[in-house]
Amino acid sequence: MKIAIGCDHGGFILKQGILDFLKQREIEVTDFGTFDEKSVDYPVYGKKVAQAVASGEADKGILLCGTGIGISIAANKVRGIRAAVVTDEFCAEACKAHNNANVLALGGRVVSPELAVKLVAVWLDTEFGGERHQRRIDMISDIEAETMK
Ligand code: RB5
Repeated sequence: MKIAIGCDHGGFILKQGILDFLKQREIEVTDFGTFDEKSVDYPVYGKKVAQAVASGEADKGILLCGTGIGISIAANKVRGIRAAVVTDEFCAEACKAHNNANVLALGGRVVSPELAVKLVAVWLDTEFGGERHQRRIDMISDIEAETMK
């Protein structure tokens, strides 16, 4: 499995712990930056990771900003991306089981580095439920087909 990761300055604090965890699991990672806590614009990184996932260059993406919100909104503008912001284990599980989230977004000002790693693990280890959930995801794809050129 290949994972694309990206963050802004607000999410940078979470990145190293997640990279260490992915390395322990021997998961291949492409790090799209940012690489320090200097102020940058989160849409840049949301777009890079989303495009890597949408193109198949990566299987999944992880995005980090101050809240996880802005960077997930940016990622969700790319066709085929289902980016979910989560702050607890229940949602980390549900966003995979129900929504088949292909991008996980976390906030460096919201969750601790330890919880962030736990949420990544739950998301990776949960299986998509399929069936009625697939039907609903197909409906989301229909919205994209109707509204995106
Ligand atoms: C940057 O200050 C902050 O706005 C950003 O990291 C993020 O929280 C946006 O949603």
